[in-house]
Amino acid sequence: MTLSRPTRRAAIGGGLFLAACSRAPDQATAAPVVDVPLRSLAHFPIGCAVMTGRLTEPAFTTPLIRHFSQLTPEWEMKMEYICGDDGALRFEAPDAIAAFARSHGLRLHGHTLVWYANAPKAFAELDQRRASFTEAYRNYITNVVTRYRDVAPGWDVVNEPIEDDDTGRLRQSLWSQRLGDTDHIRRALDHAREADPKAVLFINDYNLELYPKKRAAFLSLAETLLKAGAPLGGLGTQTHLAADLPAGAMATCIKDLASLGLALHVSEMDVSVAWAKGLSRRAAETRQAEIYAEAMSAFAALPARQRYAFTLWGLRDADSWQRKDQPKDTPLLFDDAGAPKPAFAAVAEAMRNAG
Ligand code: GLA
Repeated sequence: MTLSRPTRRAAIGGGLFLAACSRAPDQATAAPVVDVPLRSLAHFPIGCAVMTGRLTEPAFTTPLIRHFSQLTPEWEMKMEYICGDDGALRFEAPDAIAAFARSHGLRLHGHTLVWYANAPKAFAELDQRRASFTEAYRNYITNVVTRYRDVAPGWDVVNEPIEDDDTGRLRQSLWSQRLGDTDHIRRALDHAREADPKAVLFINDYNLELYPKKRAAFLSLAETLLKAGAPLGGLGTQTHLAADLPAGAMATCIKDLASLGLALHVSEMDVSVAWAKGLSRRAAETRQAEIYAEAMSAFAALPARQRYAFTLWGLRDADSWQRKDQPKDTPLLFDDAGAPKPAFAAVAEAMRNAG
């Protein structure tokens, strides 16, 4: 999603995990948050979005490795990074993230191959002959997927294919214009499959919990692709939320998305406090923790084969993309200093309760 979108507890028992405690300044009476490693509580991968700049900072990498088992490149695996104006491909940053993942035994989630928001000049300027465009499209996808085959079990093959409104229309882009509304998605999935016979191939979108028609269109796109024999293996729900999301919306969304039996990825979760309307800061923080817990409980209740991963869009509040528009936002599980927040404790508790 783009930056301009305005739509938008509990102590854990078990001394075993007791590594550090923190107390939010305005939570003087709340129980301290116990820093249990999230990955130790999960029966599925717990992911975090990362940028290479942070991977050399121990204050970032120590909690990262402690809590997470999967990394998603936040930006540096997108076409806008990889594909130069002249069509040359550069891989320094995604290679560095992949190397970090390999050396720490983490999975990498490939993000993202085709996205309406990235239409590199090299592609836009290709002549209009379908042949050369289709060839370049295939080459790009197979090159990128092949390179990370050993470390990336899954890919966001097409990101944000549905318009962000409640009309349920497919998004228009350079890709849809040249290769067809559904066909560019079908082709991208086929090319990714050709490069990696085992990868779980996703379409990924946002606001699926807010817009029922958008969710229905996303599901119907998945059904169309499956009926056409496309190797679609999973659905990603970004889950960029604001803390005013009504109770139950997240659980309904996850249940609904799981109805096709595909793997599910909560792929980019954050819960903005700053964008929440009509709530005091304190109330928004409380809702934030509840929403995280609701999402985690609903995800953890899915059949094991459908739980691809649960990913946070950043580690500390200070790392969040939301800070660009909302400098005081605190959308993640760890505060600026890297201490776990009440939202962290709520997620950990939801994981514990899921067993
Ligand atoms: C969308 C994309 C992500 C990222 C965020 C903003 O959710 O899928 O890759 O660009 O917007 O950080």
